[in-house]
Amino acid sequence: MKLKKAIITGGSGFIGRNLVKLVPEPIVVGRSSKKIQQIFPNVQCVEWHPPELIPKEIFDGVDVVFHLAGENIYKGRWNEEKKKRIFESRQVGTRTIVESMCQAKNRPKVLISSSAVGYYGDRGDEELTEDFGPGTGFLSEVCQMWEMEAMRATSCGVRVVPIRTGIVLGRDGGALAEMLRIFRLGLGGKLGRGNQFMSWIHIEDLVSIMAYCAQADTVSGPVNAVSPNPVTNKEFTKTLAKVLRRPAFMTVPAPLLRLVLGEFAEALLSSQRALPQKLLNSGYQFRYPLLQDALVNLLRKER
Ligand SMILES: NC(=O)c1ccc[n+]([C@@H]2O[C@H](COP(=O)([O-])OP(=O)(O)OC[C@H]3O[C@@H](n4cnc5c(N)ncnc54)[C@H](OP(=O)(O)O)[C@@H]3O)[C@@H](O)[C@H]2O)c1
Repeated sequence: MKLKKAIITGGSGFIGRNLVKLVPEPIVVGRSSKKIQQIFPNVQCVEWHPPELIPKEIFDGVDVVFHLAGENIYKGRWNEEKKKRIFESRQVGTRTIVESMCQAKNRPKVLISSSAVGYYGDRGDEELTEDFGPGTGFLSEVCQMWEMEAMRATSCGVRVVPIRTGIVLGRDGGALAEMLRIFRLGLGGKLGRGNQFMSWIHIEDLVSIMAYCAQADTVSGPVNAVSPNPVTNKEFTKTLAKVLRRPAFMTVPAPLLRLVLGEFAEALLSSQRALPQKLLNSGYQFRYPLLQDALVNLLRKER
């Protein structure tokens, strides 16, 4: 199947803005059409207010739904209220898109739904392919619920691919934007002992993986969207500092990180060494398999 007309929830976000550019006829679904039109003046947009279903006619001629919407996990301190928003925005949003699709007369063929390698929990240096089971902790629980809600679409004949995304590296958002602010001041450093594995992916690879999974009829079920070369936090820190030509001698002790960031610190200290087994088996070619090349590409203007 060739990618043509597709719905993108959360298309106004960091990943969504990059994905919209790849889709020939995108329909962006978000909470404010005014916000979407400011970002994409010439793109069709639909406002949604989960749990209200979205109008069935929107699905006419649509083969693919990319579901990205959810409360941002990187911004703001995690308190009980924030954690509730992280969980519920994904639960209610996924339920809403799945029910809306299933009730449509013309159902899309495939749902590409965001998830994260946080699914695996804190797993040390274990090499994690899609066959591995879930871990424990808040983010793992969020991902398990998120994937389960998305997989419900299989009951109405839709192929579902939860994309277990690693840390997305891009110039204009996500974790790298936050890290750069600190590294540019020369205050970069490893987090805790720095032994935790970081499964990362260049934004260009991520959106092309999403498009690839939409078009590859044989791909279904969870897919690890991570580069084939995860690195430890120590190695990531060293490589980023080298590419930026800045020092990174600091160590942020784990207790300090926990004090400042609350429970979000666990997300930075936990280790996932995920491997893109399904993508490699299916012949997907990574543009940026190596961290240094990915960072040089993204930060070339800074050097
Ligand atoms: N960036 C990463 O490194 C990374 C890694 C793993 C997984 N992911 C997942 O991939 C998805 C997209 O990530 P992203 O980095 O593009 O996120 P983002 O920049 O925060 O964008 C997410 C979009 O979701 C919508 N949204 C935000 N809060 C919401 C809420 N409380 N309820 C409903 N919708 C809400 C917003 O769109 P509107 O305002 O237009 O509604 C927003 O633009 C997320 O679900 C994220 O968890 C990202």
